Amino acid sequence: MGGHASYDYAGESAIVTGSTKGIGKGIATALAEADANVVINSRSAENVEKTVSTLSRVGNGRITGVPADVGRPAELERLVEHAIDEFEEISLLVNNAAVWPREGSMLEASLEDWDYTMDINVRAQFYGSHLVAKHMAHNDIQGCIINHTSQTGDRRTGDRGLYGISKTAINGLTWRMAINLAQYGIRVNAISTDVTDTFQLRHEAELLAEDDEERTKADILQEWADRTPLGRLGTPEDLAHAVLFLASDKASYVTGSILRVSGGGNLK
Ligand SMILES: NC(=O)c1ccc[n+]([C@@H]2O[C@H](COP(=O)([O-])OP(=O)(O)OC[C@H]3O[C@@H](n4cnc5c(N)ncnc54)[C@H](OP(=O)(O)O)[C@@H]3O)[C@@H](O)[C@H]2O)c1
Repeated sequence: MGGHASYDYAGESAIVTGSTKGIGKGIATALAEADANVVINSRSAENVEKTVSTLSRVGNGRITGVPADVGRPAELERLVEHAIDEFEEISLLVNNAAVWPREGSMLEASLEDWDYTMDINVRAQFYGSHLVAKHMAHNDIQGCIINHTSQTGDRRTGDRGLYGISKTAINGLTWRMAINLAQYGIRVNAISTDVTDTFQLRHEAELLAEDDEERTKADILQEWADRTPLGRLGTPEDLAHAVLFLASDKASYVTGSILRVSGGGNLK
C-alpha cells in the first residue's frame, strides 16, 4: 500500500444522478464528507428526501435533492436548472444513474427495451453532460464530468446485450466529449467497474438464484467475489474514491480516461 489521500471539496457543487442507492449514494456521501454541496437525484421523491436528510448531517456543504427521471429530457433539464438556481456554479456532474433490463438476446429484445435502456443509460448521460457543459463553458468554470460505464462496455459478448451496448456507447461518449470540451478546460472521464455490491447486483443474484436449484443468492455473490482477481466484490466507496480523485486538482491533466475500479475484473 502506498500514500494516503484526503480531499477538500469545500465551495464546489456537484450533481450526482441516481444517488439514493448503491454507488451513486456512495459517491454523494464521499463528496458530502469532503464538504461539497451536492444535488441528490433518483426517480423516487421519498428516497431523495431520505438521502438529503441523511447527508445533510454529513460534512459542511449543503445538500439538496430533485426527484427526476433522467431518461426524460424535461426532467433532466429541471434537475440541472434546480442545481444552478441553488448553487449558482456547478463544477462536477456525475452521470451515474443506469438500469440493467433483462431483455434476453438481441432476437428477444424489443424496440421498447432498446429505447428504455438507451434513454436512461446513454441519452441522459449525453444530455446531462451537454446541459452542464454549456453552463460551465458559459461561466468559465473549469469543471469536470464523470460518466459511469461498466466492464460490459469493454466486451463483445455476454448477457445483457442492450446494457453492454449502452456502456460501450458511454466509452465513446466520454472520449468524444473530452476532446470537444478540452478547449474550455472541462475534463470528461469515466469510471468503470465489474461486480460492485449494490441493490442492482443483489437483485441480479436473487433472480439467478430463483432459476437455480443448486445455488443460493449468497452462493452466487460469493462466486462473483471469488472470481474477481483481487478476491472480493467492489464497494460503492471504491468507486467514490475514484470520483474524488478524477474531479480533483490532482487529476488536472486527466481527460478522456476510463478508470477501471474493478479488482481486475475488467481484465478477464
Ligand atoms: N453494481 C455493479 O456491479 C455495477 C457494475 C458495473 C457498472 N455499474 C454502474 O454503476 C452505476 C450505479 O449502479 P448501482 O449498481 O449503484 O445501481 P443501483 O443500486 O440500482 O442504484 C441506481 C440508482 O439510480 C437511480 N435511477 C435508476 N434509474 C434512474 C432514472 N431513470 N433517473 C434517475 N435515477 C435513476 C436509482 O433510484 P430509482 O430506481 O429509485 O430511480 C438508484 O438511486 C450504473 O451506471 C451502473 O451501470 C454497476
